[in-house]
Amino acid sequence: LAVAGTVIHTPERGVIEILEDAVVTVGEDGRIERVIESDDPAQEATIEAAAAGGRLTLLRAGQYLLPGLVDLHVHAPQWPQIGKALHLPLEQWLANCTFPLEARYADLEFAARSYSGLVDALLANGTTTALYFGSVHLGATKLLADLCHAKGQRALVGKVVMDDPTLCPDYYRDASATIAVAETEMFIEHVQRLAGPEGRVRPVITPRFIPACTNDALEELGRLARQTGLHVQTHCSESDWEHDFVRHRLGATDTRSLEAFGLLGRRTILAHSNFICDDDMDAIGGCGAGIGHCPLSNAYFSNAVFPLAQALEKKLHVGLGTDISGGPDASIFSACRHAIAASRMLADGVDARIAPDKRGRPGAAIDFAEAFWLATAGGGIALDLPIGVIAPGFAFDAMVIDTTVPDADLTLWPDLDEPEDVLQRIVYGAARANVRRVWVDGATVVDKDAGLDWT
Ligand code: GUN
Ligand code: FE
Repeated sequence: LAVAGTVIHTPERGVIEILEDAVVTVGEDGRIERVIESDDPAQEATIEAAAAGGRLTLLRAGQYLLPGLVDLHVHAPQWPQIGKALHLPLEQWLANCTFPLEARYADLEFAARSYSGLVDALLANGTTTALYFGSVHLGATKLLADLCHAKGQRALVGKVVMDDPTLCPDYYRDASATIAVAETEMFIEHVQRLAGPEGRVRPVITPRFIPACTNDALEELGRLARQTGLHVQTHCSESDWEHDFVRHRLGATDTRSLEAFGLLGRRTILAHSNFICDDDMDAIGGCGAGIGHCPLSNAYFSNAVFPLAQALEKKLHVGLGTDISGGPDASIFSACRHAIAASRMLADGVDARIAPDKRGRPGAAIDFAEAFWLATAGGGIALDLPIGVIAPGFAFDAMVIDTTVPDADLTLWPDLDEPEDVLQRIVYGAARANVRRVWVDGATVVDKDAGLDWT
């Protein structure tokens, strides 16, 4: 495979790289082999060879090749209630809306309908990698992994563990810690048989959050994490209620508690983490764990803004998450916008001439390039996967953004825009309709122009 066109990506935080009229070649293994720039004499022969072999994708004017988006936090079973019930606080939303909905996934026919629609929607929005919470059910969560595998999405999927009757209702709970762990092991086996041990779909050890799990379950999952080296995902210090619940029960923060259970490591992704303190950040940074920043959901359930700038200052690994359906928006481009807006709300907002030191933190704001980096390379680093950058050795997980489609607001003004404005326009303006084509590991997983004749 070779794709010829203008590449835009953010290989490092705050660094925009624009490669005009480049050619990206992809090997049989789905990894990028070469990125050949326009002044390289090898370009012409590469294009000719790829065209002759029927392996060339040529972007048109107004189309750009960008890395695919990484969503570090999706609750797959909550897809049918996206955009509903957000007037409730987290604990009521879980008990009254979310647990009843998730319980329906005992029905595999319902699960298939919902999960199939979700994976299609995320791919169509350019999300090439998603880190999914399934439900408590082994069967439905296997089905989610199977669907991601069949549709070609890079997916990390977890059977949710929630066995503590203090919080979890009888109708939606693991029967015991032992059964929860045994089913987690069965799920791991299923996914590894499906996709291979380091495959495109991977199992994730998934204690829902500390309040939903007994100490026995957390200890056993920690043992499993150490033994297997697999990814771990959970919610961390999300809301005042949740953060205080853990401090009362365990006498420590979520982060330090997870660490004590053996659940904090290089491949752990902590959703939210709004109320982490300096000591928590040290623990997270010390082992290289990642944070899934979900700015939109945080507005609803936490009334809080994740201290992103401090986390980045401390070199913590951070990416973005939608938190479907706590965040009522499936697009990681939207998450970029929300992350920027949230960061601006923490920033030093008062004119220093009028009110020095009045409110806000200097340096809290991120810009569009940093947001896009979080959405791509940042997510890849957090997951410890070679994704999110268009460079040799990285997986060819990429998308074509078309700025010329009708029925979308994104419009470039070539006589007004500088090259860097193009990325800014895309981050602020791209809608699902602008995502024309998506590849994962070099395989086409979305092609909205298939059958249309552009030439
Ligand atoms: N904490 C425990 N479960 C959930 C969930 O489903 N969504 C969110 N946002 N927080 C949680
Ligand atoms: Fe969540």
